[in-house]
Amino acid sequence: MARLYCRWRRVVLCVCTLFTSLVLLFLYVGILVTMGMVDTTTSGTDRDHFIAPGASRNNGYAPCSQTFWQNNQHGNAFWNNLQLVVDYRFNPIMSLHNSSRSCNKRTFYESVRRQSFSKVKGMLNSDELPEMLKDFVSSMHRRDYSTLIQPNGVCGAGATDEKEAPLLLLAIKSTELNFKNRQAIRKTWGQAGWVSGQSSKGEEGGGYVRRIFLLGRENYDDLGGNPLELLQRESELYGDILQWDFLDTFFNLTLKDVLLWKWFSRYCSRTRFVFKGDDDVFVNTVKMITYLQDQLNEPQADKEMKNFMVGYVIGGASPKRNNRSKYFIPESFYRGLYPAYASGGGVIYSGQLTKRLHKISERVHLFPIDDTYVGMCMIRLNTFPVHHSAFLIFDFAGNQEDEDCSYHKILVVHKRSPSEIIETWAQLKTRTQCWDAPLR
Ligand SMILES: *[C@@H]1O[C@H](CO)[C@@H](O)[C@H](O)[C@H]1NC(C)=O
Ligand SMILES: *[C@@H]1O[C@H](CO)[C@@H](O)[C@H](O)[C@H]1NC(C)=O
Ligand SMILES: *[C@@H]1O[C@H](CO)[C@@H](O)[C@H](O)[C@H]1NC(C)=O
Repeated sequence: MARLYCRWRRVVLCVCTLFTSLVLLFLYVGILVTMGMVDTTTSGTDRDHFIAPGASRNNGYAPCSQTFWQNNQHGNAFWNNLQLVVDYRFNPIMSLHNSSRSCNKRTFYESVRRQSFSKVKGMLNSDELPEMLKDFVSSMHRRDYSTLIQPNGVCGAGATDEKEAPLLLLAIKSTELNFKNRQAIRKTWGQAGWVSGQSSKGEEGGGYVRRIFLLGRENYDDLGGNPLELLQRESELYGDILQWDFLDTFFNLTLKDVLLWKWFSRYCSRTRFVFKGDDDVFVNTVKMITYLQDQLNEPQADKEMKNFMVGYVIGGASPKRNNRSKYFIPESFYRGLYPAYASGGGVIYSGQLTKRLHKISERVHLFPIDDTYVGMCMIRLNTFPVHHSAFLIFDFAGNQEDEDCSYHKILVVHKRSPSEIIETWAQLKTRTQCWDAPLR
């Protein structure tokens, strides 16, 4: 009798253990499924969510699965396929043995880029492209343009006896003929040297600011004259001109990013931040200094600086397919959405990120739209720009401009003429009651 009881006990114990395991398994699966559902519902509103190239517009934040297994997501798009060759080449999974080259990196990257052109040969019918894009394609393999004029100070104008590393380099996209814009900027928000932060309490910090203007060259045949001599004199006077030997056209603007990063990595290694923007924006440099110093005082600042980029962020944008647009990119050239990017009107990034962008840009084919190109480099660094509402790339909304202290609450506003820049700067300085207004 006792033996029988014992055997029964063992059977019951066995069944119970099995049952408990099953219950636990059910619970586990249940939790996994719920978590999965939560994940998909929240990611729909997350503006920085990664968007796989090729995702359709309606499902701007489509989960990877929709496109991940799609074989032909790049179609016959020229740029996508060109870049695919390079991306595969540097993907450590795709080419295990080739990922760590120690020989001359630059010529190696160059040769990989060159090889990728031969692999996509015949894919693009240039005759169907608009003139501007045709010009771009014919020279997009080149980025080795020499400098015609260099700033005289180390890392731009404003290098006086500094006691600490420069806080900010203002790198402003200009053209030879925009002398008035440059002059207005020099006299106002672009003053180099020591710039104090703004606070009525008198406890103001500050930082050293440097300035350069980024220029290509004009087509002198069209111009009927050569402004280079004037520019040379301007450079002697202000020491803030950085000019390269390429045609200063809209589709060549990306060269100003790539070549600025290269120049910065060589001459500005200690500079903490770069502001890169157009010569028709107004910048509240004083507030910018305070804002940047606050960033440096954040607890994790050192780590954050590796990826620091802030501006007016555009996420999930698709290429303009209307051939009357200045930004027109046909389907035969690029397919898919653009990665999140900060508008090129005015953007700030850290010196550390600048050097990383310089390195990664060796692996990214030039793209005709400059700020989009920066976004393409950013996803390859596995990072993204952060949006800030004080960057007004599309100007003030409604009559916000007329509100009290409106200009004291912003960092960048586009777009402003030279005389507007001068007028606004004067107001910024005199309205002391606004000095403490926080950023919007
Ligand atoms: C590695 O590099 C060599 C020569 O540079 C090339 O021929 C080869 O195809 C590459 N291997 C892979 C897996 O990409
Ligand atoms: C860019 O500059 C180069 C060198 O001057 C020129 O050959 C090319 O046509 C320019 N590209 C565009 C799109 O204007
Ligand atoms: C723009 O596209 C339309 C319709 O596809 C075409 O008829 C026209 O020729 C194009 N214009 C230019 C300048 O390419």
